[in-house]
Amino acid sequence: MSHKKKFVIVGCGRIATLHVAGYKDRDDAQLYGVYDKKKSAATAFAKEHGIPKVYDSFEEVLSDKDVCGVEILVPHHLHCQMTIQACEAGKHVSVQKPMAMNLEECDRMIEAAKKNHVKLKVFENFIHYPPYKHMKKMIQDGEIGEIKGIRYKMNNCSLKSENLPASKIRAKSVAVEDELPQTGWKIDPTSWTWRLNDTLSGGGPLVFDDGYHKFSLFYDLFGKVEKVNAMIDETPVVGAITQDCPAVVTWKYADKKLYGIWDITSSDEMYIQSKYYTCDERMEITGSRGVLWLTRCTAVLMPDVAPVVMYRDGKVTEFWEDPSDWQESFRNCTHDFIDAINEDREPVLSGETAKEVMRFALAAIESGRKGETVYLTNYADKQVPKKQSFLYSLFMNKK
Ligand SMILES: NC(=O)c1ccc[n+]([C@@H]2O[C@H](COP(=O)([O-])OP(=O)(O)OC[C@H]3O[C@@H](n4cnc5c(N)ncnc54)[C@H](O)[C@@H]3O)[C@@H](O)[C@H]2O)c1
Repeated sequence: MSHKKKFVIVGCGRIATLHVAGYKDRDDAQLYGVYDKKKSAATAFAKEHGIPKVYDSFEEVLSDKDVCGVEILVPHHLHCQMTIQACEAGKHVSVQKPMAMNLEECDRMIEAAKKNHVKLKVFENFIHYPPYKHMKKMIQDGEIGEIKGIRYKMNNCSLKSENLPASKIRAKSVAVEDELPQTGWKIDPTSWTWRLNDTLSGGGPLVFDDGYHKFSLFYDLFGKVEKVNAMIDETPVVGAITQDCPAVVTWKYADKKLYGIWDITSSDEMYIQSKYYTCDERMEITGSRGVLWLTRCTAVLMPDVAPVVMYRDGKVTEFWEDPSDWQESFRNCTHDFIDAINEDREPVLSGETAKEVMRFALAAIESGRKGETVYLTNYADKQVPKKQSFLYSLFMNKK
């Protein structure tokens, strides 16, 4: 009998690929099985990664006494329901971000985990990214003095140009180097279709979905937020399908004179080098004595610039020593799930903290909708708006 704790991945879509490495290098845990409602996806995934078992239903996973925990990697409208089911079956749960669709769902998930004495982890990998952790430690050690401000930039090259070979990206005004290699992940269109329907995703692909990572970083760095003010526009991607940008989100932390600003743009002709999503992130933290930059996470826009850079006392110092592939953040995040179970402690992003991150995100979206400042203490759940474009309905009806 193996002494390894057994885990099962539920949902073998795009992101599942990055959930394997964190088990491969452990001798106390094993990726034992997979389940996907599309059986062919589960079978192919199990074969590719050498995973022994393919289940036929979620119920079959939950009734398997050998299974210690599940990783829920499915569309957002299923997070709450499947998390509760797993908790009630006595399984530890790691659920991908965003935690759920609204705060009421978060409460029910937290309650289910408590009642059944299992761990509830929200899998948000950015806060486990080694260069980010290095930068955070430098801030905590006072390397740049008292913190005065935080700026964050998210820039993608639009949903439609995600995987295009560079030779097909044609800048209108300047010549393009034809030799640029293909960049970015292959993404099945089904991975986008549920995201573009608010009733399945809970909100826009940039501010709500991907944004959960960023809200999580901002919360992880400096804690509770008092108020938020956002402007969130819409830009067509294909036909009537839009993404929620350009957008600017600003916020003030609670109990301190510290403000943050995050801006989101899409540059559909930009070549962004990445093994994963073609989405670039840059962070700048200003202190009373210096400045820190985090220059990458998902993509590598500037390969010649170190992942962490510090300006202080007239000198620029580059920090190259941390592993900086995006995969590393997933590996560490998985380890945290296993360790939290082994050590009987809360995971880094517990249900309670993840709910506060969610409140920050939803308050920002509410601010964008209303065009006014939203205080987080005043934020209450609203009915999730329905957004089904004509193209979306056509596509879904054909399936
Ligand atoms: N951490 C990150 O950086 C990151 C990146 C991408 C996605 N995500 C998150 O991961 C989750 C999954 O996203 P994705 O991009 O892999 O989506 P995807 O659409 O590529 O994959 C989802 C999979 O779930 C399966 N599925 C749907 N309903 C199911 C059900 N009832 N039971 C079992 N399987 C079911 C689908 O068949 C599909 O294979 C989402 O929460 C998303 O926000 C996180």
